[in-house]
Amino acid sequence: MAAERGSGKLRAAENSKQTSLKRYRNGSAVERSGIDTDGRASNLSIIEKANALSLPAFEAIHLSPSSPLLNFTPKSSSASYRITLQSPSSISSSDLDACFSLLEQTSAAAYRNASAGWRPTAKKREMRDKDMRFLTVRELIPDDSMKQSNSNGEDSTTSHATSPIVAFLSFLPTPEPPYVVLYIYELHLIPSVRRGGLGTHLMKVAEHVARSVGVAKTMLTVFTSNVEGEAFYRRLGYSEDEISPPEKRLRKGVIIMPEYRILSKLMNREPA
Ligand SMILES: CC(C)(COP(=O)(O)OP(=O)(O)OC[C@H]1O[C@@H](n2cnc3c(N)ncnc32)[C@H](O)[C@@H]1OP(=O)(O)O)[C@@H](O)C(=O)NCCC(=O)NCCS
Repeated sequence: MAAERGSGKLRAAENSKQTSLKRYRNGSAVERSGIDTDGRASNLSIIEKANALSLPAFEAIHLSPSSPLLNFTPKSSSASYRITLQSPSSISSSDLDACFSLLEQTSAAAYRNASAGWRPTAKKREMRDKDMRFLTVRELIPDDSMKQSNSNGEDSTTSHATSPIVAFLSFLPTPEPPYVVLYIYELHLIPSVRRGGLGTHLMKVAEHVARSVGVAKTMLTVFTSNVEGEAFYRRLGYSEDEISPPEKRLRKGVIIMPEYRILSKLMNREPA
C-alpha cells in the first residue's frame, strides 16, 4: 500500500517527515504549543508519549485486548477473526515474514512499476521501525481438543499460533507538520478474505487508536495505479491531502498523473 517513502515528490514530503522525526527523536526543537485555533495539532508531545509506551501500556490506554474491536466476523460468512496488536519487539520473526510476504504479493508489482522500484531491504527496515505497530489478523479456528474435554459440550474457539496471518495493518503516530497524524503504512488482505468488510474494520480500529492518541488526522499513501485501493479509502471518507503530489499539466493539454496520492481523514473525537 504505502508507496516506498523516498521517491520524487514523495521524497520531498518524506524528507520533511524524516527531518521532523529526527528532530523529534533527538528531543530537540519539539513543538509544544498544543492545538491551534483552526484545529491543527502541533503538539508533538502526544506522539512522544504514545511512542514511548510499552506494548502492554499502549494496549491499556489505547486498545484493550478485551475490546470488541479486536474480534471480527465478516458479512456472509461464519468465520471469525482475531486481531492482535503487535510491535517490532513483540512480533515473531515468522509473523513479520508473513506480513512482509503478504505485502510483497499484493504490492511488489506496483512498486516495480513505479520509479522508486521494489526495495525489499528498505521495506523490511521500515517495518522494523521501533515505533511501528501492527494489527495482525488470524482466523479463530474451532479447537476440537478443547471441545472434547469440555463436559458441557460448549463450543470453543482458539486462535492457534499456527493459524496463518490473513491480513495486517501497520501504523505509526508521527509528526506531519503542522499536524500530528497516525500514518497508516500498510493494509493488506489475502484475496480470500477480501470484500467481507475486514479492511473497513481494520481501518476502524486504526481510527479508534488515532482518536485515542489524539492526532489530528489519519494519513496514508496509495499508488494511483491501485484504483481499487483508492476507491476503498475514498469510500471510507479519505480524500487527497494538501501535501499529495499534484498532477503535472504539460503543453498541449497533456496531464501526467502522480505515481501515488497521499490521502487523509480528519479525526474528530467521535467516530464519523
Ligand atoms: C483494499 C483492501 C484493503 C480492501 O479490504 P476489503 O476488506 O476487501 O474491503 P471491504 O470489504 O471493507 O470493502 C469496503 C468497500 O470498499 C470498496 N472496495 C473494496 N474493495 C474494492 C475493490 N476491489 N474495487 C472497488 N471497490 C472496492 C467497496 O465500496 C466496498 O464495499 P462493498 O463491498 O459493499 O462494495 C483489500 O482488497 C486488499 O488488501 N487489497 C490488496 C492490497 C491493497 O490494495 N491495499 C490497500 C491499498 S494500498
